[in-house]
Amino acid sequence: MMVKRVSVGIREFDKLVGGGFPEFSMVVLSGNPGAGKTILSSRFIYEGVNTYGENGVYVCLAESIEKFLSTMKEFGMDFEPSIQRKKVEILDFSLLGDIDVQLALNRILDAITSINAKRVVLDSVTALFMGLKTEAEKRHTLRLIYKLIKRTGCTTIVVVDEPFNSDHSWYGEDFIADGVVSMRTTFEDGVLRRKLRIVKMRGTNHTLRTHSYIITLAGVKILG
Ligand SMILES: Nc1ncnc2c1ncn2[C@@H]1O[C@H](COP(=O)(O)OP(=O)(O)O)[C@@H](O)[C@H]1O
Ligand SMILES: [Mg+2]
Repeated sequence: MMVKRVSVGIREFDKLVGGGFPEFSMVVLSGNPGAGKTILSSRFIYEGVNTYGENGVYVCLAESIEKFLSTMKEFGMDFEPSIQRKKVEILDFSLLGDIDVQLALNRILDAITSINAKRVVLDSVTALFMGLKTEAEKRHTLRLIYKLIKRTGCTTIVVVDEPFNSDHSWYGEDFIADGVVSMRTTFEDGVLRRKLRIVKMRGTNHTLRTHSYIITLAGVKILG
């Protein structure tokens, strides 16, 4: 049976992954600061509710809800009407120090159930896992998140923050996730360039190429 595709909300991006993310999948979106992870993930939630009628939960772990809302408004994504109509819920864990992952997870699951969400973004798990000591703990926690969210029937983007110029911050999530999308910024001759790769996407004949993209006020735009 053909798996249903969940549009990311950017037509050119959807084409790279066979029409969208496979429904119910958990996709790791990994990239360095300023790569556009938050802008892309917001689009996923915004178009989800406004174009596809699918409710969404956005979990802010690195920046506050106020900052998030005002930045995304600049990009033409006003979440407030959808929040009022209980189609979108934004959770803010940004002010907590070491986050109690179990508690956070319960709140996330409650939010998903209460608005009957079909899409979730965790931005970022790197922030969520700040208090966890070992790789084993992180891996175990991600498995738990995966299992619990999967049960709710959501399609999920899990953002991973990579330090600039690093090869990768942490490999643990890649093996658990159904998909891995990499967004990177590099400097070529002193000019910032943005590159997107689909590293992995289960059940999908995805692009094998590296794609350049830019960010404008219209959001992430794939160049080719
Ligand atoms: N008005 C704009 N026009 C073009 N690019 C912008 C604009 N506003 C922000 N950006 C780019 O978007 C980046 C922030 O994107 P964001 O999704 O927050 O990154 P990440 O979440 O990956 O750290 C900024 O570093 C900047 O390069
Ligand atoms: Mg971000």
